[in-house]
Amino acid sequence: MSNDCKKAYITTPIYYVNDVPHIGHAYTTIIADTLARYSRLIGLETLFLTGTDEHGQKIQEAAQKRGKAPQEYADEISAKFKDLWDYFDISYDTFIRTTDEKHKIGVQKAFETMYAKGDIYKDNYEGFYCVSCETFFTKTQLIDNEFCPDCGKPTSIVKEESYFFRLSKYEDQLLAWYEDKEKCVLPKGKKNEVINFVKQGLHDLSITRTSFDWGVKLPESLHDPKHVMYVWLDALMNYITALGYGTDEKDMKFWPATVHLVGKDILRFHAIYWPAFLMSLGLELPKHIGAHGWWTRNGEKMSKSKGNVVDPKEVADAYGLENFRYFMLREVPFGQDGDFSQKALIDRINSDLSNDLGNLLNRIIGMSGKYNDFVIGSDDVMKYHQKEIEDADAIIANIPAYIYDLQLNRYLEELWKILTIANQSIATYEPWVKMKEGKKEEAMALVALVANLMAKVALLLSPVMPKTCSTIAEALGFVINYENYQKLIENKALLDTFMIQKVPPLFPKIEKELLKTDEPPKQEEKKKEPSKDEGIITIDQFFQTKLKIGTILEAEEVPKSDRLLKLKVDLGEAEPRQIIAGIKEYYAPQDLIGTQVCVVSNLKPAKIMGNLSQGMLLAAKDKNGLSLMRPEQPKQSGTPVG
Ligand code: MSP
Repeated sequence: MSNDCKKAYITTPIYYVNDVPHIGHAYTTIIADTLARYSRLIGLETLFLTGTDEHGQKIQEAAQKRGKAPQEYADEISAKFKDLWDYFDISYDTFIRTTDEKHKIGVQKAFETMYAKGDIYKDNYEGFYCVSCETFFTKTQLIDNEFCPDCGKPTSIVKEESYFFRLSKYEDQLLAWYEDKEKCVLPKGKKNEVINFVKQGLHDLSITRTSFDWGVKLPESLHDPKHVMYVWLDALMNYITALGYGTDEKDMKFWPATVHLVGKDILRFHAIYWPAFLMSLGLELPKHIGAHGWWTRNGEKMSKSKGNVVDPKEVADAYGLENFRYFMLREVPFGQDGDFSQKALIDRINSDLSNDLGNLLNRIIGMSGKYNDFVIGSDDVMKYHQKEIEDADAIIANIPAYIYDLQLNRYLEELWKILTIANQSIATYEPWVKMKEGKKEEAMALVALVANLMAKVALLLSPVMPKTCSTIAEALGFVINYENYQKLIENKALLDTFMIQKVPPLFPKIEKELLKTDEPPKQEEKKKEPSKDEGIITIDQFFQTKLKIGTILEAEEVPKSDRLLKLKVDLGEAEPRQIIAGIKEYYAPQDLIGTQVCVVSNLKPAKIMGNLSQGMLLAAKDKNGLSLMRPEQPKQSGTPVG
């Protein structure tokens, strides 16, 4: 991020409405919110955009499964995202929905412009498509000729008439852009991955579909009503249609984007397709595309079927929204994956927030009350503490660079160095001793030093913890605004006086985990009973049981049963097997489709509640629930296990 143009335009990805918001969505949005608040604090005219991505095959299928019209379904889930962001006090200026009329007009305008330029042509597409990732693949890109290299789910063969975008034409221009603008893609490691991908050669991109209709129609001038736009073309355009591209152009002054924040999984779309579309449209390219890592749970990817998805609202309600924001930004270096654990969150709250920050404020309140009736003047700070002030200002001078490189964890680390100067100064100068010795001027100079350092930290921490920092400012008797930012941060000045007010402790210590945990019990806690089943069977006996990898093609509930699901499982045979499994309490049928399981394939068929069952799934069950046994990597259906 850079602040050379007095404007900032910050965006999140627009979220698919096939799922409710989870911690990953909250992470991107909280980073973006922090950057937007920082931009406003330093006086930039700021536009912060978020929204929902509502078209495409995935959404149409998700709606169908729930027996809803796509628009009705999209309305419902889009509202859930908007409600959560409002509840989280996310300071977005525009919430775009790709079903907004204004957006659709803008996308059609863009399509027409690229078409007129000769960058779009009609042909036939033949290849593979992953509905879950809404991505086209060639056969060589697939795993085992079948599975999506990104998410591991089976792909489907697509053969349809399609319009193509001449992506290949932009290969050299893209490489020149990466070369020319060092920080166009952050962090560096991710940028190198993008460059390597482009260097392998770009294929033209299929940008329309005919096999379903839930999407933006082509512009009427093309007279081709059976095509709808490819969802990624539609979605990426949101960054300009939200500014009025193709309609009122009202906010186009904010273009180019200062930063598009995205997860690493969608970097390719943003760092390759999007700039190529913009080149075709003759628009400037975004200044930065920042790709963050993924949040995992106990080292595993989160998914509904594993039941390990962290609900951001639950965490924020239990531990405090702003504590959660601080944790997410402080815990993980931008671009790297992070593992969510309550223990790590509690450590951050008790140590960084309660000990380093909260206690310091309490001490300022306590000392100012005891020594001088809650009034602090800064007149003698430079006489006694010039060095401490200069050290703090030197740290402050360096920290915008961390924001511009999206290294928010480093930004916070630097702020904590200022708190360390403050806390150490109290220990070194012992104002209580000075008071006893009758050196009140010196004692109060120390209190004023610490109050000024705290005020500077509160200003710079406010984008991350806005309400907390307003409370700190209220306690110190100043306000967080641009004027004070200029005074304390830009001009390195001090506040003349502080009229201290008592506030309740900001960060009460947390003694135990506040949310029910799904973490497995620690190794040493497990009861170690002597095993009763060692050395019973021979290897030949084991191989009498035939185990195979199966891919679930269909899943539905067995009527009138609380426990049973009816599955169609591909075991690489001529016909899929029907298997009745007692897993209904643990898995929603729609989450099973496309996933792989381990099947006992040579069991005698049996009838369960009137339904033929031709196999059995392997699963493990403990007090935390049931987990199906699955291959670590996708395997061809029918692969033997043993
Ligand atoms: N609709 C597209 C984006 C279009 S932008 C023009 C999309 N939507 S999404 O809802 O699937 O994902 C949105 C964002 O959430 C992505 O940036 C993705 O990386 C992020 N996350 C989803 N799960 C995540 C974690 N577990 N951890 C961190 N972020 C992850 O992709």
